[in-house]
Amino acid sequence: MLKQALESILTEEESSELISAFDQIGDIIIVRIPDSLLSKKKIIGETLLKEVKIAKSVFYQASAVEGDFRTRHLEILAGEDKTETEYKEFGCKFTVDVENAFFSPRLSTERERIANQVNDGETVVNMFAGVGMFSIMAAKKKKCTVYSIDINPVASMLCEKNIASNKLLGKVISINGDASKIIKEQLENKSDRTLMLLPERSDEFLQSAIDATKSGGIIHYYSHIHADRKSEAGKLSEEHYLHVTPVKSEILGSKIVRPVGPRYYQTVVDVRITK
Ligand SMILES: C[S@@+](CC[C@H](N)C(=O)[O-])C[C@H]1O[C@@H](n2cnc3c(N)ncnc32)[C@H](O)[C@@H]1O
Repeated sequence: MLKQALESILTEEESSELISAFDQIGDIIIVRIPDSLLSKKKIIGETLLKEVKIAKSVFYQASAVEGDFRTRHLEILAGEDKTETEYKEFGCKFTVDVENAFFSPRLSTERERIANQVNDGETVVNMFAGVGMFSIMAAKKKKCTVYSIDINPVASMLCEKNIASNKLLGKVISINGDASKIIKEQLENKSDRTLMLLPERSDEFLQSAIDATKSGGIIHYYSHIHADRKSEAGKLSEEHYLHVTPVKSEILGSKIVRPVGPRYYQTVVDVRITK
């Protein structure tokens, strides 16, 4: 139906491209529009708002995800100009702010994968936690304690709100600040499992992840890998990790999390470290 509605203003090819480039998060739609269609952005916004019944706002993503906070600039196309919304995933509810704190619905499979691996009794350090998506899903599933760190005050404030609304006070602890500094000050050798979902800067923070993790603990190391063939991306990311790590590491597995550009992939390597 959406395709049909868009085809009244776009060609079939243009509307297919647009449909693969939009995210719906609660009652907000965010659409990436190619330069060739920018002159039609208002009508695209109005059509999406009319066709997607639960949508209250349609935004155009006017910048890449950028800066230390990994946020993006959004421009309102139709509906209410508000960027905060409620989002549900696997039985957890979240308040997210799609412009002022990082959030991606495209990581839901990875969040579920990690939550399924966490064991009862674990201490988890989530170094780049955003609004607490991974932290809350893990703590909802297992009896674990999660330290949920983020440098963006808006992300940490929303994480606190999400902890309260999912009734996880004391199980997930939101800490605002630089992950390296927080680990050095209070979390050395505390974690059974450390997540480092800041793929652009993983190598820079690897030593801090190692410092946070107990000997025998697991690190989920995310990176961006260039691979000519998709099937090689996991192996290449394992090789990259083994090349940069200073500690004895047993590779438990690796996979593509999502494509991030032509022949570019976000990957994760799961490793058990010994120190
Ligand atoms: C790619 S996002 C991941 C967010 C979260 N894990 C998720 O999946 O929703 C990276 C996050 O790292 C945070 N960040 C960047 N540098 C940081 C640092 N030095 N210490 C702690 N957090 C940082 C950003 O504010 C951003 O929220």
